Amino acid sequence: MGARGGGVTATGWSQPVGAAANVLALARVDSTNDVARRIVASWDPKSPFPGLAVVAGEQTAGRGRLGRAWFSPAGRGVYLSVIRALPSPVPVGLSLLAGAAVCAVLRGRCGLKAGLEWPNDVLVGGRKICGVLVEVVGGGGPAPVAIVGVGLNVTHRREDLPRADTTSVLLETGRSMAPASLVPELVAAVDEELLRGCRPGYAVRRFAELTVHRVGEPLSCRDGERTVEGLFDGLEASGALRLRVAGELRVLHAGEISSGEKETPC
Ligand code: BTN
Repeated sequence: MGARGGGVTATGWSQPVGAAANVLALARVDSTNDVARRIVASWDPKSPFPGLAVVAGEQTAGRGRLGRAWFSPAGRGVYLSVIRALPSPVPVGLSLLAGAAVCAVLRGRCGLKAGLEWPNDVLVGGRKICGVLVEVVGGGGPAPVAIVGVGLNVTHRREDLPRADTTSVLLETGRSMAPASLVPELVAAVDEELLRGCRPGYAVRRFAELTVHRVGEPLSCRDGERTVEGLFDGLEASGALRLRVAGELRVLHAGEISSGEKETPC
């Protein structure tokens, strides 16, 4: 079943979803995830949360994973937070699903061979083009609410990017697209993947289709002060990373890949 047509109840998803859902567009904010948190906190918990996306032209305090800042220059990127009350049972691997949604849009709309680096960085040609920050908040009502933050580099030139291992749609395609033009498809794709994510095992299968990692390749994963080096062995059903270290299986629930091949699947 598609996610574009409004309320989808067969899977327990009971709110408007897709491109027709509400989008609040703002010129400049601190962080769209923080605006989303404030909206959710101020919502009357007695009413179901209706589903909303917040998009901004610029962020002054954009947040990345692991407490980092997300550089968000005016007019160059998509800075988007999709807010959705979660169905029950809550889909497994929300971050994987969000990354998969971005890959789908970059492949379909921009013709880019986008792939996923665990847990949810989106890479093109081995360089990061998009970061995803998923936060789940109480919402005060019966259902927890997911805030799916998407930061996509669109019209960044080389000099606009903070690091050499990052890229943008412009650099990869030579085309200058208006960041806002990608928003409806991104919102619809996030909805679609969250909806499909209700199926058992879906997020892990989707990650396997899109990942830049190959089973058996050497990977380093940094989690705070600790770095674990091993051979990639796929994901646990929970979405956690499996590494073989000296023949033993290590399972990592959080962290960041700091080395490895970055070949994108077809
Ligand atoms: C990362 O790779 O570290 C995640 C970056 C997520 C950035 C997006 S931009 C929209 C939303 N608002 C934020 O403050 N962060 C996310």
